Amino acid sequence: MKQRKTPDQLRSHRWFGRDDLRSFGHRSRAKQMGYAAEDFTGKPIIAILNTWSDLNPCHSHFRTRAEDVKRGVWQAGGFPVELPALSITETFMKPSPMLYRNLLAMEVEELLRSQPVDGAVLMGGCDKTTPGLLMGALSVNLPAIYLPAGPMLRGNWKGQTLGSGSDAWKYWAERRAGALCDSEWFEIEDGIARSPGHCMTMGTASTMTAIAETLGLTLPGGSSIPAVDAAHARLAAGSGRCIVEMVWEDLKPSDILTRKSFENAITVDMAIGGSTNAIIHLIAMAGRAGIRLELSDFDRISRSTPMIADLRPSGRFLMEDFYFAGGLRALLARIFELLAPDCLTVTGRTLGEEISGAQVFNDDVIRGLDRPVFAEGGTAVLYGNLAPRGAVIKPTAAEKRLWKHAGPAIVFRNYDDLAARIDDETLNADENSVLVLQHAGPLGGPGMPEWGMLPIPKKLLARGIRDMVRISDARMSGTSYGTCVLHVAPESWVGGPLALVRDGDIIELDIEARRLDIRVSDEELENRRKAWAAPAKRYERGYGALYADRVTQADEGCDFDFLHSGAQTPEPEIH
Ligand code: FES
Repeated sequence: MKQRKTPDQLRSHRWFGRDDLRSFGHRSRAKQMGYAAEDFTGKPIIAILNTWSDLNPCHSHFRTRAEDVKRGVWQAGGFPVELPALSITETFMKPSPMLYRNLLAMEVEELLRSQPVDGAVLMGGCDKTTPGLLMGALSVNLPAIYLPAGPMLRGNWKGQTLGSGSDAWKYWAERRAGALCDSEWFEIEDGIARSPGHCMTMGTASTMTAIAETLGLTLPGGSSIPAVDAAHARLAAGSGRCIVEMVWEDLKPSDILTRKSFENAITVDMAIGGSTNAIIHLIAMAGRAGIRLELSDFDRISRSTPMIADLRPSGRFLMEDFYFAGGLRALLARIFELLAPDCLTVTGRTLGEEISGAQVFNDDVIRGLDRPVFAEGGTAVLYGNLAPRGAVIKPTAAEKRLWKHAGPAIVFRNYDDLAARIDDETLNADENSVLVLQHAGPLGGPGMPEWGMLPIPKKLLARGIRDMVRISDARMSGTSYGTCVLHVAPESWVGGPLALVRDGDIIELDIEARRLDIRVSDEELENRRKAWAAPAKRYERGYGALYADRVTQADEGCDFDFLHSGAQTPEPEIH
């Protein structure tokens, strides 16, 4: 049992509490900003890391929401300071926002370490911001609470609900097939994103915020609240109050996170039919906490966890429906027997205590264990001679007829090659073909862009074909669907077997058996390997060069190798 901190034990006391010239400078500069000594003296100083930007529609409410957090911090006797952090916007950042997740993590770690703060509220939601903020906070290990942005409201078109991403892909395929006119397409553009907040399907954002809550890093129930609901402003103030208490209690991420809490997070990922991206992020986050997760952990838990949330892209409903059905607390209560309930949360109470009494109000949205959407979880891990270090697929989003399939490969060297040839009338493709995209992994993309849902060739769309087996070392948006094998490791850019596939090679996928193989002899593959030449270096300088030198492969979480846990970085000297 830890002792409650006293004011002179606060980390910020080293900056503000001493009788020396350096502390005089710190105090006088705080007063320069209009604060009186009693505003900050002896109080927990709380960093509010805000990933707001004018180019991040998912976080457009964060400017005012930060004021709600400040209100809570003041109420609880803390001193709030808002610090901007890299706003990774899924929609606009190129070549891939994933390239910058580790940059945000580094920024968060160094911001918190170098500044006079005692704890942090982490404001994120758009896909990479959740893992980026958490990875940095876990590494610095100060008390921290995560404030999820909340999903946007349901989309609407002519009275039909529209889901972020999922319905864009769906109607884009219809348009390419000639089944949707221009004016209808633009009406959909007007109606698909109706409010601030992150994507409201069970995409990467909703998956990662649910995971943050399950890990115990968010106020219970917080991840399901729509961004524009009044309850979200109350959540923000509550997070501000909670972090002040966490500082006094010295409740740090290392007190909360254990192997069991990460296994709870994987269980929830499977039960909600979460994004395949969660695998990469969870491996990276656990690595920062000194816990090693393997791809096999995900497959093991997937096989014993029914998917009970009927949410798009694997199901029918949207996050607003999930919220009104009881939200994540209700889902957690439903899978109580699959969880380790004794894991701690930011409130100082256990997960089991926090979900006690939670009720499901709509059994169609959150199904019973006896009536799941799918009997197993949403993600499967495949191995074989095409993916010696693993690949992943979301079976729940794939057509059942393709779960066991063998067909000839059509190989695209890179995204430009794909874009140039996919709709070529002479492309030798039919519904049995297997579309293969190379050079789309952590280094090849670079940044593993979400290209894994390769488009169906137009001539096949016109014949009514909406799914085919597609294989790449890319990621796929959590809002995407289809029989898409992703994250093939090692990637083609570094000479993984995916680099050796040629047009016409027969590729076999067997989801039940968890296999992904190419029917080419070992001898032939070896000959091709000898003839393979590594691509030229892409970056000679800057962040890109650092990324290319130090990023790990998908099965290791794509973190930088030097940022895994290890010896603690020392606290800065105050000279
Ligand atoms: Fe931000 Fe989807 S674009 S969560």
